[in-house]
Amino acid sequence: MKIGIVGAGAIGGTIAQKLADAGHDVKIANSRGKNAVGEFADKIGAVPSDLDEVSQDIEILIISIPYGAIASLPENLFEKLGKDAIIVDTGNYYPEIRDDRIEMLENGEVESVWVSRLIKRPVIKAFNTLLAHSLSELGCEKGKGERLVMQVAGDNEDHKRIVMTLIDQCGFDSYDVGNLAESWEMQPCSAGYCCDYTSEELKSIKEKSNQTPESIKKNRAKVMGNFAELTGGDFSHENVIRINRKYNI
Ligand SMILES: NC(=O)c1ccc[n+]([C@@H]2O[C@H](COP(=O)([O-])OP(=O)(O)OC[C@H]3O[C@@H](n4cnc5c(N)ncnc54)[C@H](OP(=O)(O)O)[C@@H]3O)[C@@H](O)[C@H]2O)c1
Repeated sequence: MKIGIVGAGAIGGTIAQKLADAGHDVKIANSRGKNAVGEFADKIGAVPSDLDEVSQDIEILIISIPYGAIASLPENLFEKLGKDAIIVDTGNYYPEIRDDRIEMLENGEVESVWVSRLIKRPVIKAFNTLLAHSLSELGCEKGKGERLVMQVAGDNEDHKRIVMTLIDQCGFDSYDVGNLAESWEMQPCSAGYCCDYTSEELKSIKEKSNQTPESIKKNRAKVMGNFAELTGGDFSHENVIRINRKYNI
């Protein structure tokens, strides 16, 4: 497929590499023009792009930048995107550690619903519930061993199925959370969020969970607001997963 990715960081860069390896035509851009992504794109077999070109002649646009930057994306990025193209939002809102406060999210709007409203296009939420290390190092080809699962949500079932195929090609199973309005169930510090679970494990955690949008928000404030303390300053992947499994229930 023809895929454009905005954001060449830990998540966007890794998705680009995996999808290029899987044989897709991948263009990648950040905010600083083609030259800034040239070396990385060459290394992974993608095409360096800028925001003016990245959405032209593609079937899927993956947005993988901090939430605070989404409002500053140029409008013509979406005007140039074909009307049937799929848009994927990999983002998470972290006001405790990274993002400036976004009033609508503070007032309870579901994160990807806010993104969709802002860019005036439907989106699929995916690639946001595993840590960057898990995405880059813990994928596994289907049938070759135990696989971790990624949560996915969105209103267009055809789009969702296509995104699930990409997730499969990246080495992960998919867990369908439901429509976009229900994607609060996969926001930061929700049940099973960034816990490296298999499908069965995640299903069991979700079934036992009493989470609500309000409880998840409170849990995020508690966990992210006290992360150094909770981890004892040990930010190794194993310890972060241990803490996530303890609190994201
Ligand atoms: N890291 C994780 O473990 C993880 C896991 C799941 C989901 N996520 C979510 O995925 C998103 C990306 O996270 P990340 O960890 O990949 O972030 P990151 O490593 O900081 O990379 C962010 C990328 O976005 C680009 N960018 C920033 N502002 C931009 C703009 N206005 N226009 C175009 N590109 C822009 C940056 O490049 P320039 O600044 O150079 O333009 C950079 O390439 C975030 O919403 C994050 O919450 C992260």
